[in-house]
Amino acid sequence: MTASQQSMVRDIGLHPSGEQKIAWVKAHMPLLRQLEETFRKEQPFAGKRISMCLHLEAKTAYLALVIQAGGAEVAIAGSNPLSTQDDVAAALAVRGVHTYAWHGATEDEYNMHLRSVLDFDPVGLIDDGADLATILHRDRPEQAKRIAGGCEETTTGIVRLRAMANEGILQYPMLGVNDALCKHLFDNRYGTGQSVWDGFMRTTNLVIAGKTVVVVGYGWCGKGVAARARGLGAQVIVCEVDPIRAVEAAMEGYAVMPLLEAAPRGDIFITVTGNKYVIHGEAMKRMKDGAILGNAGHFDVEVSKPDLEGLAVSVHQARPNIDEYRLQDGRRLYLIAEGRLVNLAAGDGHPAEVMDMTFALQALGLREVLTNNYAPGLHRIPEHIDREVAQMRLRSWGIEIDRLTLEQKQYAESWQ
Ligand SMILES: NC(=O)c1ccc[n+]([C@@H]2O[C@H](COP(=O)([O-])OP(=O)(O)OC[C@H]3O[C@@H](n4cnc5c(N)ncnc54)[C@H](O)[C@@H]3O)[C@@H](O)[C@H]2O)c1
Repeated sequence: MTASQQSMVRDIGLHPSGEQKIAWVKAHMPLLRQLEETFRKEQPFAGKRISMCLHLEAKTAYLALVIQAGGAEVAIAGSNPLSTQDDVAAALAVRGVHTYAWHGATEDEYNMHLRSVLDFDPVGLIDDGADLATILHRDRPEQAKRIAGGCEETTTGIVRLRAMANEGILQYPMLGVNDALCKHLFDNRYGTGQSVWDGFMRTTNLVIAGKTVVVVGYGWCGKGVAARARGLGAQVIVCEVDPIRAVEAAMEGYAVMPLLEAAPRGDIFITVTGNKYVIHGEAMKRMKDGAILGNAGHFDVEVSKPDLEGLAVSVHQARPNIDEYRLQDGRRLYLIAEGRLVNLAAGDGHPAEVMDMTFALQALGLREVLTNNYAPGLHRIPEHIDREVAQMRLRSWGIEIDRLTLEQKQYAESWQ
């Protein structure tokens, strides 16, 4: 059976529109284009089966094709049922990638897709949020031992992998792509910063200027979300639990306060913590009529939907991807994209140029982990790969930088 026959996609006939989207991002991803050429010549993944679980949109599709160009047979599932784009999934299936994803998959269907990419019996993984790692370690311990290695995309996945490594149960080596500087400094900050507001604005068609935006979590993503909200003319309040990050936010000029104090002031709330129920019922009880809640953290647990449902007397769709919860006292709270990542479930995700760097790290990281003998556990992407990606980025922009002279190098390394 061909990959397109084996694939589970919504409608294979949608592939022309998916191809068009992939061509557009490819034109804006010079780093991946360069790696595609190198991999095609060097075939680093020849004969290897690679399974990927990532938000299945055009940039990810191009990464899958670059891995395929390196000689791999590739299977892919989406990492969130609402971020999968059916036309892109169809295009991948037509291009010979085993594709298991459709938009709006139920929980059972979503789990079936994840199991399908594991039934493919891969030696290498690209994981996002450690969903594949969780299934392998919970349900398929024997298969986990056959994995040679992989890369993890996001902060939340690294937290989960670190917990597994600390318990001594992680069966294979994983490189934490998010910990690379060329990932979180740019993808989390500038990528999330821009795409959250892109997703928010196209979904709500409302103005940001003059509104009060409450950003819950001032990590790498939160910094970007807050900065871009300010750039759009909002007044920004930051809620944090980490005193150092709270100081950073305060010195950046944002108001910093506990969530319960921010709750009655905010017009828009964005969570980016990687944590659970950070916006809870007590805060919802204090919010203004018409407040809009969105999440940009990896899982849909940051806004407590059980609390929202418990407080609501009715729920209906106010606009595509926006649910209106009417509370007992008549106030309305709006939740975007069921509390899933607003930039992906209600938009196209990060800009292509940003994902170009992240996915260059993924591609180089995968080659690194599969061609070197890493011990089982969570590892950092080697610094030389991080620097190589930064150099590639600069070259693609035509930017040159200075080099240390020998004298400067020696001075910088000496103590006298
Ligand atoms: N939407 C996207 O495209 C995208 C991109 C990258 C990362 N992510 C996800 O976004 C989340 C955040 O990533 P990050 O890199 O910014 O992580 P981070 O660890 O740098 O920052 C998270 C921040 O949230 C704070 N926090 C935790 N619990 C809190 C609470 N109850 N109230 C207030 N603050 C709290 C932490 O102190 C920390 O400063 C993760 O789930 C990550 O996987 C999403």
